[in-house]
Amino acid sequence: MKTQVAIVGAGPAGLLLGQLLLGRGIESVIVEARSRDYAEHRVRAGVLEHGTVALLEEAGVADRLHREALVHRGFEFTFDGRRHRIDLEGLTGRCITIYGQQEVVKDLIAARLASGSPVHFEARDVRVEGFQSGTPSVRFSTLDAGEVKLECDFIAGCDGFHGVCRDSIPRGVLAIHERVYPFAWLGILAQARPSREELVYANHDEGFALFSMRSPSLTRLYLQVPPDERLDAWPDARIWGELHRRLAASDGWQPEEGDILERMVAPMRSFVAEPMRCGRLFLAGDAAHIVPPTGAKGLNLAAADVWVLSQALARHYAEGHDDLLDAYSQTCLRRVWRAEHFSWWMTSLLHRFPEGDSFRDRLQHAQLDYLASSRAAALVLAENYVGLPLAGL
Ligand code: FAD
Ligand code: PHB
Repeated sequence: MKTQVAIVGAGPAGLLLGQLLLGRGIESVIVEARSRDYAEHRVRAGVLEHGTVALLEEAGVADRLHREALVHRGFEFTFDGRRHRIDLEGLTGRCITIYGQQEVVKDLIAARLASGSPVHFEARDVRVEGFQSGTPSVRFSTLDAGEVKLECDFIAGCDGFHGVCRDSIPRGVLAIHERVYPFAWLGILAQARPSREELVYANHDEGFALFSMRSPSLTRLYLQVPPDERLDAWPDARIWGELHRRLAASDGWQPEEGDILERMVAPMRSFVAEPMRCGRLFLAGDAAHIVPPTGAKGLNLAAADVWVLSQALARHYAEGHDDLLDAYSQTCLRRVWRAEHFSWWMTSLLHRFPEGDSFRDRLQHAQLDYLASSRAAALVLAENYVGLPLAGL
């Protein structure tokens, strides 16, 4: 089997790259370890930046998004029993879009299948080879195709944090920068009407909480919990009790309760592997970097990476120039490190740190108070939250 670009991973990064390449007449084959059903039902991100929506439009997969997504002009944060609104639109002229990652993935898979371009789900023993020479390939096996050697010009490693691509790069090539946080998020998806219009981020003595949503009948909520927390320590009544307590403020608002459809515990980590390239293997999205979800940046960064990569590959094939491919890692890392800083900062601002550090608590408080009273401070937050512009879009 032969193609121009072999894409490992059918998450948002791999699928969007496939669509963007297709739009420029570049062939690809996607190889995914999990089933289509699993990929389409993995509940994760929900906040799309303006630039991410523009990319989905460019890829021709934004029709349902425009019909069903919720456009938010601001969000709120709560501290000391007070609520304060960040007017994203008033400050930046930009809004954010609430649309589940699994809906993005469903739309991208539908477009991929409609185009007739190959995607191999449930691929086993995926290996990437030869990317330091001129003859890269991806080996895998599936029930239908048997053992496959997929020869290609380039490999896009879009296989997430636990994938094989990054680990296949020889020792010493990558520098790893990492921060592991002393807490995790317990996330639930509830069959409940979101009873407030915008997201609420809460800083509370008992720990962080977040009120978010997916649709007019689905609420998404998160609680800070200890790292490696077991889900069975959190029966429904404890989850709702803690959400009510942490999201409360003097206005008396409380989230509406409903059946819990999905629950998970997500670890919190900051991670960057650089450079994001080794020979003809290009890493994109979570395969190269992780941010804690507090800044809602992970999916948006993945989209930005593959935009840069699609432009660089287009220049290679159309004009025979590799300057953009050579600049890929540096171009992406500039945005990645801005988002790393923002996500680390939001996380540090809003969570309770277990060591009980009164100095840190006072700093958090001073910063939250500043955000609530200074337009300049709120603008820095808003500009980062809505996302910096994407070159060339
Ligand atoms: P992934 O989505 O991880 O996709 C990688 C794919 O590769 C998967 O389908 C996987 O099955 C496949 N794969 C793995 N190994 C192999 C292999 N060996 N061979 C073949 N395929 C393989 N981001 C935001 O922007 N906004 C948010 O609001 C937000 N909220 C979040 C909330 C939570 C609780 C979590 C956990 C994350 C959140 N994120 C958010 C982050 C976002 O979900 C990720 O950054 C995003 O999924 C990255 O996309 P990706 O395609 O790079 O990786
Ligand atoms: C979500 O809706 O899942 C969500 C929203 C904002 C975040 C993280 C996750 O910062």
